[in-house]
Amino acid sequence: MRFDQIKTIGILGGGVMGGGIAQTAASYGYRAIVIDVSEELCETSRDTLINGRYGLKRGVERGKITWSQYETAVANLEFGTDPTLLKDVELLIEAVPEILELKQRILGEMDSIVRPDAIFSSNTSGYVIADVARNVSEARKPLFIGMHWFSPAPVMRGVELVVMPETSEETYEAVAGVAERLHHEVIRVNDAPGRYGFIANRIWGQAYEEARRIFEEGIATREAIDRAMKLGYGWPAGPFEGVEGFTRGWQ
Ligand SMILES: NC(=O)c1ccc[n+]([C@@H]2O[C@H](COP(=O)([O-])OP(=O)(O)OC[C@H]3O[C@@H](n4cnc5c(N)ncnc54)[C@H](O)[C@@H]3O)[C@@H](O)[C@H]2O)c1
Repeated sequence: MRFDQIKTIGILGGGVMGGGIAQTAASYGYRAIVIDVSEELCETSRDTLINGRYGLKRGVERGKITWSQYETAVANLEFGTDPTLLKDVELLIEAVPEILELKQRILGEMDSIVRPDAIFSSNTSGYVIADVARNVSEARKPLFIGMHWFSPAPVMRGVELVVMPETSEETYEAVAGVAERLHHEVIRVNDAPGRYGFIANRIWGQAYEEARRIFEEGIATREAIDRAMKLGYGWPAGPFEGVEGFTRGWQ
């Protein structure tokens, strides 16, 4: 699958990340189909994506996107609970909760539903991509790649593309092309068996552990630690605020 053949992106999971990724894709002209497990969650996802803090309406208000991009995005978005809605997508992005067995099962099921030449990607925060891809067919492996976005997806400009030995260069180039069209910058990473977290989350995880130790040793309050990192190093959020934002979304 080449970059210029990708017109429709399927997103599994319309939560904090899947919703933000769908919003970004739809804003830059892709048709984006989001699958979640209930109609209610689909409605919540649509509402957050349009009216949320980093949603499309605020994007227009803050001058980040034009009114015409807003209208295009809303028209490009589709939500549903039936995974077969994704059978014709050219690029699948998995963004279900960070449970390895869930990702493996869903991607294995999608392998027989989605067209055989479609690219599969996972937005896992750090599982080894070869493990996430375990249940897809050998024929799909060259089309499988890690696509790790950051939160909020429409705002944070980096995307780690995690390449397995089996991932083809054509797949890497196609997904890098999509990321660039979405005004995101690609960071290439090699899949690393036995490790969790690619680049940014490995480093962030160490920093968070140190912040927790500083708090537990009674050296400073959580608020003081957050302030030190923001005022001292220009972090947009401190380590404790970060965990809150990653889990619940930045309200
Ligand atoms: N939150 C972050 O800051 C962040 C950043 C980068 C990557 N990630 C990763 O992105 C993935 C999603 O994280 P999130 O924060 O968006 O989680 P979330 O809980 O906000 O969203 C997950 C969504 O997936 C849905 N879901 C569950 N089972 C499903 C299924 N079988 N089919 C379709 N949808 C299903 C849930 O109902 C939920 O709406 C995780 O792997 C996470 O580690 C998260």
